[in-house]
Amino acid sequence: MKQEQRPRIRLSRNGPYLVTVDDLTNSKGERLQGWNGVALCRCGASNRKPFCDSSHIRIGFSDDRPQDSTPCAVADHRGAAQPGSSDVNAPSIRIARNGPYEVQGFELDTDNWSEGASRERYFLCRCGGSKNKPFCDGTHRSIQFRDDSN
Ligand code: FES
Repeated sequence: MKQEQRPRIRLSRNGPYLVTVDDLTNSKGERLQGWNGVALCRCGASNRKPFCDSSHIRIGFSDDRPQDSTPCAVADHRGAAQPGSSDVNAPSIRIARNGPYEVQGFELDTDNWSEGASRERYFLCRCGGSKNKPFCDGTHRSIQFRDDSN
């Protein structure tokens, strides 16, 4: 039996989240090759949010984490989708109002997991300001990140 593969999120260096699926199959059972997925903004500056428009280059976005950054649990995301509001087994990405991406069911290519963090459901920074990249640390509130169209 074929092992089920989960869709994946990759981090491009100083650039967007690259959301792909490892196995995209059409209705004829044919695996589609060369599907590039979606590039989601994580610098906060795109004019086409939530999608990347290459503004990260213009603003010199860096995904470096400060040496003294401490992983933090994200406990408060007003405006995020409520747990249980969708099929808990379906991979999904939801956008919190003026806040992070709420991700469920995607593999994430990072070594920056904090101890005890859920790898099934987590929050990714999209304001560009987190000191715990790629995860949201609540900085979007202090920098008053706004995205009125999403
Ligand atoms: S979205 Fe960037 S810190 Fe929360």
